[in-house]
This record gives sequence, structure tokens and C-alpha cells, in this order.
Amino acid sequence: MLYRIARTGFFQLDAEKAHDLAIQNFKRFTGTPLDIFYRQQLPNRPVECMGLTFRNPVGLAAGLDKNGECIEAFDAMGFGYVEVGTVTPRPQPGNDKPRLFRLIEAEGIINRMGFNNLGVDNLVDNIKKSKFNCLLGINIGKNKDTPIEQGVEDYLICMDKVYQYADYIAVNISSPNTPDLRSLQYGEALDELLSALKSKQKKLEDIHGKYVPIALKIAPDLSDKEISQICQSLVKHEIDGVIATNTTLDRSLVEGMKNANETGGLSGRPLTLRSTEVVRLLHKELDGKLPIVGVGGIDSYVSAKEKLMAGASLVQVYSGFIFKGPSLVKDIVKNL
Ligand SMILES: Cc1cc2nc3c(=O)[nH]c(=O)nc-3n(C[C@H](O)[C@H](O)[C@H](O)COP(=O)(O)O)c2cc1C
Repeated sequence: MLYRIARTGFFQLDAEKAHDLAIQNFKRFTGTPLDIFYRQQLPNRPVECMGLTFRNPVGLAAGLDKNGECIEAFDAMGFGYVEVGTVTPRPQPGNDKPRLFRLIEAEGIINRMGFNNLGVDNLVDNIKKSKFNCLLGINIGKNKDTPIEQGVEDYLICMDKVYQYADYIAVNISSPNTPDLRSLQYGEALDELLSALKSKQKKLEDIHGKYVPIALKIAPDLSDKEISQICQSLVKHEIDGVIATNTTLDRSLVEGMKNANETGGLSGRPLTLRSTEVVRLLHKELDGKLPIVGVGGIDSYVSAKEKLMAGASLVQVYSGFIFKGPSLVKDIVKNL
């Protein structure tokens, strides 16, 4: 109810201004009695995944708290885990504004943010200052001005810096808003990346005395054959998990709607079916060899359950959270 009133106000604003205002408020309210606006008591629904115990399977998807500024607020809402980032080695402004659009009638969002973030050092500083009980995933990427042939180096720089603070590391090669990024999902480029990440993980495990799992985040815009090839590479390189999916370039379900022709990735309800289909394909191909995190259009207990039934061990929400607010987490967790 409270969120529905707040949403009416937020939705009067430009989408990115509303996002920034929400982040500022979460920061301001943390540790004060005003956190009553979002604090929730949720039942424990523990899940074992990637060698970790999550207090419940519902996570915040990457991109909402890119700089790790309000992990404590999301912890208070009862998320089982929060994935911060995508973070890049150096700060970067992202694409020109406007770059974030609501598709109200479809309960969707189109974004072409382009990894706007304050850089990995800032993220680590923010994490060090935060106190939270949920698990923390850190999503890493490459700077826009790093040539794609040198992209692997950017992931390794980020991995080095975040390793000791992360419960798991998500490797984002599926944003449609960084030129050529998605080319890392295929063939030799993927093998080279996964092999470099795996040997870095071994070195960092020795240095820090802790094993931090790596999960690869993939796009929904892949053919069945491409998904099958990705699965083979994931198994070959002993990657710990796969996150499916990022946003889609497909507009077939939103044709003719306001903002549908904006460039960028589409998320929310119009992505639900495709992302569940990708989870199902991954489940079939991987046959339990590594766990799947399902994300895309989850906006209720039912759509979360669909991802879990398709083979996901954990789920994440972004757009559904924008449309439904913190009660979405409660609705899913309490019904599990
Ligand atoms: C505004 C916006 C920014 C996003 N930024 C990132 C990002 O930085 N890194 C990433 O891996 N995914 C990013 N995503 C994708 C989400 O994490 C998620 O995979 C996608 O939106 C599908 O989930 P949803 O339908 O619940 O939104 C972003 C999504 C949105 C809407």
C-alpha cells in the first residue's frame, strides 16, 4: 500500500531521476527509524547453492545498486542476497541521457545505461563500510573504452579487487549496451575468458584462503545451439553457476507501445517467457552439473516458482521490484 503511493510519485518523474532519488532515500533511511518504510521480517527458506547457504532464494539483480551504496537497505527488505554492480575497473559515465524508459502498459523497462558506475575501488570502499547479513554477489564488467580484445584483463582487474569481499562473483558478458560485449559469449573468446577467470580464481583462493564461486551471466538472445555450446564451455572450465538472463533486444511482445522503439535492453514482464525458456534449456543441457540463477520478468510468487520449476536454484528480481516494491520479496519468500 505504502509503496503504491510512493510509486505514483516516482512514476511522475523521469525514470532515472526516480531511480537516483530512491537510492538516495535508501541511503538516508538506513540505520534510522525511517527504515520502517521497507524493513520486513521474512521466514527463513534456506537454499544451498554454489557451496553457499542463502537464507532464501530471492536476490536483487545486478544494475539497481551498481555502486553498492545501499546493500543494508536491501538486506533489511529481506532479500536472500544482493548482486551489486556491474562495476568496471575505472569509473565511467555511461551513455547519454535519457537512457532509461518505462513501458508502463507492459510492466517493462528499456535501458541503455552502459555500465555507468563509480569504479571498482569505490564499490569496495562502500562494501567495507556496510553491515549486512544477506549474501553478496559482485557483478563485474569491462570499461567501454577497453578494446574487446583486451576485455579479459578488465575482468581480471575487477576480480582481483573484489574477491575477498564477495560471496560469489558474477561475470557479465551479456549487456547489450557495451559495444561488442556479447561477442565474449561465443567460441574461442568465451573459452579464453573462462580459462583466465578460472586460473585467477585458483590464485586468489590460495592468497585469501577462501573459494569464491564464479557465475556467468548470459543473454536471452541466443540460439539453442549457442546455449548448448556455452554449457559445454561452462562444464569444461568448471564454472560454478550461470545466471539467465540479462535484458533482451527482442521487441516482438511490445510492438507499438510507448517507448518500445528506444534502443537498449528490454526487461520485465515481456522478458518472462524467454528467460524461463533459457533456464529450461540450460537445465536440460547442464543436467545438474552446475546451478542456474533464474532472472527475467519475475513479479510474483507464481513467476518465481516458474523459474524454479524450470530448473533454477535461485532467482533474482529487478523490474518486478520497480513495479511492485519490497512486498514482492515477501510475497515470494513467504509462499515458498
Ligand atoms: C536499468 C537496468 C540496469 C541494469 N544494469 C545491469 C547491470 O549493470 N549488469 C547486469 O548484469 N544486468 C543489468 N541489468 C539486467 C538485470 O540485472 C536483469 O538481468 C534483467 O533486467 C532481467 O530481470 P528483470 O526482468 O527482473 O528486470 C539491468 C537492468 C535494468 C532494468
